[in-house]
Amino acid sequence: MSSPLEPQSIRSFPEFKQHVAELIHKADWTVETAKINQPGYDLVVKKGNLVGVVQLKWLIGNVTAPQLLRFADFLDFDEGKKFNFGWFITTKGFGGPALALMKTWGKDTKIRCWIAYENKLIMIDHTVPPPPPPKKVYFGVFTCKGGVGKTTVAGHLAGALALQGFNVALVDLDPEQNLQKLVGDGVFVPNPKGVGTTIQVFDGDDWDEDAARDCQIVICDCSPALERNPSDIIKRLDYCIIPTTFNPLGISKHGKVIQETVTQIREINNEAHLFVLVNNFKDPGIKRLRLLKEVYSNAYKEISKKDNKFHCIDPEEVCIRASDLLYYWGIHILENPENPASRLAFDLVGGRCYPREDFINLADYIERQAGIGILRAN
Ligand SMILES: Nc1ncnc2c1ncn2[C@@H]1O[C@H](COP(=O)(O)OP(=O)(O)OP(=O)(O)O)[C@@H](O)[C@H]1O
Ligand SMILES: [Mg+2]
Repeated sequence: MSSPLEPQSIRSFPEFKQHVAELIHKADWTVETAKINQPGYDLVVKKGNLVGVVQLKWLIGNVTAPQLLRFADFLDFDEGKKFNFGWFITTKGFGGPALALMKTWGKDTKIRCWIAYENKLIMIDHTVPPPPPPKKVYFGVFTCKGGVGKTTVAGHLAGALALQGFNVALVDLDPEQNLQKLVGDGVFVPNPKGVGTTIQVFDGDDWDEDAARDCQIVICDCSPALERNPSDIIKRLDYCIIPTTFNPLGISKHGKVIQETVTQIREINNEAHLFVLVNNFKDPGIKRLRLLKEVYSNAYKEISKKDNKFHCIDPEEVCIRASDLLYYWGIHILENPENPASRLAFDLVGGRCYPREDFINLADYIERQAGIGILRAN
């Protein structure tokens, strides 16, 4: 396997020229060095009655479109016309505009573009169309019960996915606009280990995929009244998180709410994977947790039987714990609805932060379940 040129292995342009000349020579071409200060090219290569010129770019960055255009112009004018072809060989690669320029050239172009590696040259085939951009993955956070944490989960899940290297768009579908009242049109997520990321927030009415071209993941904070959400977005959901609470007296009631939620989603979307997530979790101790978990899974057994894309997340594996940070994050809406805080409840307290840990855990779980790792930006 060939490896890219290490800057330390080729320290100067003459060394690079020598390296490329040797590679071309190995492919049975005669290689001659151009005159010193020869404009337009650095090497002349010959095989049989073919004669071509080679321009070399020893660059740390990508080749730009004007650099490539100058070579194309040279080949079109008197001096260049004598040659059968031109090779443009560089160290790192070709930038987007240079690649776009190459694509405008037909198959008969005299120019071939290459990248020099440690032990070979690799040609950039401009006739191969680039793969289409991956389709965006849509997540909804929905349940027909109000106040169980849809907005909290949507915002912080977006934050945790952004921390993991995804570009995320948050779409506020709830006419109450709580999400926008809390985070405005964007939220910065500081990362103690790096520079942090900004998530863009969109109003459902203005949502247009093209406005979030760079985002691979879209998370929608839904209105609890399903009919108030645009049905074309609900149809598009690949995954839906259904937040619920885990309290002993409410569980059987929640079972009915979830049943109702699933029925409503399925009237519009049969494909989405649905995940029930426990929010506001308070640890009741081992014995009681066992008991609660049993009642919890019984409440959803019937739905699981009928719907093989319905999943209950084991709260011992992933849940969102009750936390003061999340509670106060929500209170901002009463204190200052006109002036969004533009932040999430991810601050570290004494070096830790439950919401940050829980949502990163959820994001990890989702990445594994949804196989969205390939969408990561870096
Ligand atoms: N894990 C948690 N710990 C503490 N407080 C929480 C937690 N999750 C949510 N809350 C608080 O509960 C309240 C309701 O949450 P949220 O607004 O996210 O629910 P919702 O389902 O979006 O509500 P609505 O149906 O009104 O849109 C908020 O004040 C929020 O701050
Ligand atoms: Mg809400």
